[in-house]
Amino acid sequence: VFANLARAPEDPILGVTVAFNKDPSPSKLNLGVGAYRTEEGKPLVLNVVRQAEKLLVNDISRNKEYIPIVGLADFNKLSAKLILGANSPAIQENRVATVQCLSGTGSLRVGAEFLARHYHQRTVYITQPTWGNHPKVFALAGLSVKTYRYYDPTTRGLNFLGLLEDLGSAPSGAIVLLHACAHNPTGVDPTPAQWEQIRQLIRSKGLLPFFDSAYQGFASGSLDRDAEPVRMFVADGGECLVAQSYAKNLGLYGERVGALSIVCKAADVASRVESQLKLVIRPMYSSPPIHGASIVATILKDRNMYHQWTIELKEMADRIISMRQQLFNALKSRGTPGDWSHIIKQIGMFTFTGLNSKQVAFMTKEYHIYMTSDGRISMAGLSSRTVPHLADAIHAAVTR
Ligand code: LMR
Repeated sequence: VFANLARAPEDPILGVTVAFNKDPSPSKLNLGVGAYRTEEGKPLVLNVVRQAEKLLVNDISRNKEYIPIVGLADFNKLSAKLILGANSPAIQENRVATVQCLSGTGSLRVGAEFLARHYHQRTVYITQPTWGNHPKVFALAGLSVKTYRYYDPTTRGLNFLGLLEDLGSAPSGAIVLLHACAHNPTGVDPTPAQWEQIRQLIRSKGLLPFFDSAYQGFASGSLDRDAEPVRMFVADGGECLVAQSYAKNLGLYGERVGALSIVCKAADVASRVESQLKLVIRPMYSSPPIHGASIVATILKDRNMYHQWTIELKEMADRIISMRQQLFNALKSRGTPGDWSHIIKQIGMFTFTGLNSKQVAFMTKEYHIYMTSDGRISMAGLSSRTVPHLADAIHAAVTR
């Protein structure tokens, strides 16, 4: 019955890893997927995660029973606190419904399904460009996806006027997807003053903000600072949704651990929202997995482990910042034509290089460097050892 089935294309991001794995070259370099690597090019399991896992394994009172549909209660409370701040009035007033989900993507999808069922506006605005999975997550949930201007290719910075104009002409009530920090793929974030203007516009037009927070702690190295934009929106008493991922900041990629919080105006609304979220989750995957969320909860509730996490997180963020400087210096010393200052100005895991798809294809073919065709480089995949190879490839791509 499937004889005539067309072959689906590989995923534009995860497919890069598939191609990378097939390449036998010893000098190959995967800068596609946003996953942290050490200076040795190896995946990293944080020490604090190993420590939490040991505690969990040694605790024989633990079992593998199903956890509730909404996930672990501790994990949910601590996750809301992490993103909204320990003293958030919304938390103190019990106005936040938080459910444990399958990392950032799962949190976005549960949020999108909930909105498609219960929200009157069916249009969601996403940044142009954005993470390739965003439009699919929302469209498959039944929402209509539109874009708003965000990135200016000429300055390789924010197109702030375009953003204000597009959100200003969005229909009242429309959902607006915002990257909480470290915008993917561009690495370009609004300044605090610009965020404040965005907030005022969104509130004055009655738009509904939906934050994707996949990099808390990765942009600046500070968990609190990276949560500021979200907290700004919660402080005004209005509603918003937040999808959190622990893939990057705790290195729990494959554990698929994240949370969706819906901040409401009153406690009884939040409790009804939670009851409806259960109806979204139960037929989709019944209940979430236990292990990753237990690791997160163990770390977040222990003062020492939390502190250790902040140190390891800062080390990862600092290594990425140093890669930016090294790549910038390497291109400068080669006299590579063009202004590469955006490499040090952009933040988070990615640099949006400005290289076009032909140049990317050339770098893959000739230098075995793998990256997404939009010219995005995962700086977290780079090391001091591989910077010269990448700089050679970029130089060759732009001068040929
Ligand atoms: C990325 O953008 O590389 C990451 O968010 C990984 C993914 O799932 O695409």
